[in-house]
Parts: sequence; structure tokens; C-alpha cells
Amino acid sequence: MYTVPRNTRLLGKNLIFRPEVTSTNTLAIEFAKDGELQDGAVVITANQSAGKGQAGTIWSSEPSLNLTFSLYLERPLAAADAFFLNIITSLSITDLCTALGISGVQVKWPNDVLVSGKKISGILCENSIQGDHLRYAVIGIGLNVNQTAFNGFAATSMALESSDTFQLDQVFHQLLGCLELRLSQLRSGDHEVLRREWLHRLFLFQTPHTFTTRHGPLTGTITGIDPSGRLMVETDQGTCIFGPKEITP
Ligand code: BTN
Repeated sequence: MYTVPRNTRLLGKNLIFRPEVTSTNTLAIEFAKDGELQDGAVVITANQSAGKGQAGTIWSSEPSLNLTFSLYLERPLAAADAFFLNIITSLSITDLCTALGISGVQVKWPNDVLVSGKKISGILCENSIQGDHLRYAVIGIGLNVNQTAFNGFAATSMALESSDTFQLDQVFHQLLGCLELRLSQLRSGDHEVLRREWLHRLFLFQTPHTFTTRHGPLTGTITGIDPSGRLMVETDQGTCIFGPKEITP
């Protein structure tokens, strides 16, 4: 059970809780299409039977132990800047973890959050584009909070990283507070500050590494992201640019 946050101005004021859904993103998109959501609405559940991950993967999360929710934003920004939604969301999750005393938190391009190299959170943004703007965005967040076993996956949780257990409703409110701060930074045009902070927390940034690409291994160094959020890797042959799923560490 989740409650409406008192620490935010917009986010989560329109709160839709369902004990079980297929996917909060799918439900939020259905509601959005029917015009049933207010800007800043959140669809949240205790259990997803078919949680969606990036690129058609499945997001699994033990019922009632973690956060699984979707945030709906109306006309959040220009379509060309859509990647900033990933940036502010992953930054907010690192802000939250750091505030709760969890160290070693990094973002992993394009939109994971890692602690000591293990995934603690995944983000799935699904946008509806109208002209050169986003008509709306649904930002799906899965954050591992109290789950402690991951069946051999390179995953972790706030509980494993801190030896505490957490009140899900409190963590939810705190995360919405972090998201609202980052969203206001985005809305006031602080793109460069956000980009810099995100790069500062980026896994393997400016670290020579051999990546896997569809054309085989590639040795290089991540130097940044281009304006549409693609990864820039400096190699002996010059700068190579990769979209999601075209390169893995
Ligand atoms: C990934 O890392 O592959 C992205 C995972 C995103 C999972 C969240 S959980 C809440 C929301 N609803 C979904 O079906 N997926 C996202």
C-alpha cells in the first residue's frame, strides 16, 4: 500500500495503486491514452506479472519487496532532448542511494544504476511524440529495495548494500522528492549541469576498456554522449558512436 507524498508539489499527487498488474508502464500508457492521468501521476504496484525491461527483456522483481512504478509527465520536453529523461531519472536514483548512505553508486549508459558494478535499478522510458515535442512520457522505474536473492544475476538491492530493511512507502516518497528536484533542474534549462553530473557518475567514463560490439571487440574510452544520448567512444581509429544495444561493456 502506498500513500500520496507530502514532500512533493506535483509528483505522485495523482496516485494509482494496484496490488497486481501486468506492467505499470503498460497500465500508465493505457490510462494516458484515455486521458485519465494528471501531469506527475504515478501508477504503482506491489507485483508485476509481466514487467517490461529494455529492448523487449523482462523485468522481474519479488512481490512486495521492491519499488515498481511508472511516472507520467505531460509535454516534458522537446523530442530531441528525450534522453534527458533517462539522465534525470538515473541521477535521482543515485541521489537517493547516496542520501541513504549507499556508496559506489554509478549510472550505466543508457539507463541502469549500479552499485559496485551490480544493477540496483532499471529504467524504461516510453514516450509519445507529437511533432517535435513529447506529448507525454511514461518513466518506468524498478528499484531493488528489500530483495536479497537474485538467482545468480549481477544484481543488488538497497538492503544488501546497507544491511538495513526499508519502508517502501518512505523510499518511494524520497525518490519522488529527488525526481522532482532533478525535473525542476531540467525544466529550468540546466542541461549542461545535468549532463556533467551524469558523466561524472558514469560507469567506465574515461576508463580504457574493451567493449563487445556486433562487429567484435573494440578497445576505447568513453568520452561522452552525443546530443541524442548515443555513446561516444574514442578509439585508435577516431570517435565511434553507438546506440542502445550496439555496445556492451
Ligand atoms: C531495464 O533495466 O531493463 C528496465 C527495467 C524497467 C522496469 C520498470 S518496473 C516499473 C515499470 N514497469 C515495467 O513494466 N517496467 C518498468
